[in-house]
Amino acid sequence: MKALVIGGAGYIGSHAVYELIRAGHEVAVLDNLSTGKREMVHRDARFYEGDILNKTDIARAIEGEAALGRPVDVVMHFAAKLIVPESVEQPLEYYHNNVEGVRVMLETMVEHGIGNLVFSSTAAVYGEPEHDECLEDDDLMPINPYGDTKLASEKMIKWVCAAHDMNYCIFRYFNVAGADDSLEIGLEKDQVTWLVPLIMQTVVGERDMFYIFGTDYETPDGTCVRDYVHVSDLARAHVLGAEYILENDTSILCNLGSGSGYSVAEVVTAAKKLADFPVTIAERRAGDPAKLIANSDRAKEILGWMPKRTLDDILRSDLEFRRRRQARKA
Ligand SMILES: NC(=O)c1ccc[n+]([C@@H]2O[C@H](COP(=O)([O-])OP(=O)(O)OC[C@H]3O[C@@H](n4cnc5c(N)ncnc54)[C@H](O)[C@@H]3O)[C@@H](O)[C@H]2O)c1
Repeated sequence: MKALVIGGAGYIGSHAVYELIRAGHEVAVLDNLSTGKREMVHRDARFYEGDILNKTDIARAIEGEAALGRPVDVVMHFAAKLIVPESVEQPLEYYHNNVEGVRVMLETMVEHGIGNLVFSSTAAVYGEPEHDECLEDDDLMPINPYGDTKLASEKMIKWVCAAHDMNYCIFRYFNVAGADDSLEIGLEKDQVTWLVPLIMQTVVGERDMFYIFGTDYETPDGTCVRDYVHVSDLARAHVLGAEYILENDTSILCNLGSGSGYSVAEVVTAAKKLADFPVTIAERRAGDPAKLIANSDRAKEILGWMPKRTLDDILRSDLEFRRRRQARKA
């Protein structure tokens, strides 16, 4: 299989590239390096610098690959903006990059006869779920522009694939964290809003304090419960998903989560076993549901996918990657 990974210089995309190459597949990456980094791209993947909003850039990568003897079998899309508060302040930027980017990509795929797409969606499409465990057929009611750009993209993908006899594999992720076993790649960004990197930035001194927002939720210890998946487990699902839609000539949509939740206090306790860091209790933030867990039975049934790594693996690998990055910079 040959994959064109758009956004393959970013956090999750770069891990997908590593897993594709480990599984013996051929990979090309297209990325505008807006948040991604050239050095995150695996040495065995060909790199095309370009923008998903620019049809000529996508066509250059697709035609460049075909000219090498084997056309692209599947496109994987990771090229989105994903900072929720930023999406509230700059919705037009988000709709442009995330939705128009998908439209241009689909149009280019149709024109070049590429019939398979793997797309990164998010738990944010569910909004504030009525129950603790999200199922794929639940109501979709995003509460911020970021989530809405992903829902709009999902809908566009379904319509376009139906009209042009194409296959899609849409994955909805929950909390993704950790770093590749090689420690060559990990979460490089400084601007983060997620629990594990916020904790580890505090551990390595890039942040003065870690805040727990709210201890009066209806959960066993009063802090919010979330579902954490190691990025390499998530990346492996993309390989399985692409192989599945190609082999079976079909489309799928699955949650990717661990199916079990950890509270913020439990994650803090687990992280403190690795290193100490300062913690302050703060007021609840608006819009944080008490419990958000993925039901990933569908991914298990269809793809045989289950996360292999534990919360401890997630925390340890993120910390080791950060320490290595600091040592490199020093
Ligand atoms: N990180 C998470 O926890 C999480 C959770 C749910 C869903 N997702 C989804 O996963 C995908 C990847 O997220 P990530 O955490 O790896 O983000 P990231 O910012 O690290 O990666 C995005 C990559 O896409 C590139 N890119 C962005 N806009 C582009 C454009 N117009 N043209 C070409 N390249 C462009 C960036 O340079 C970067 O390399 C996104 O679609 C995101 O919505 C992420």
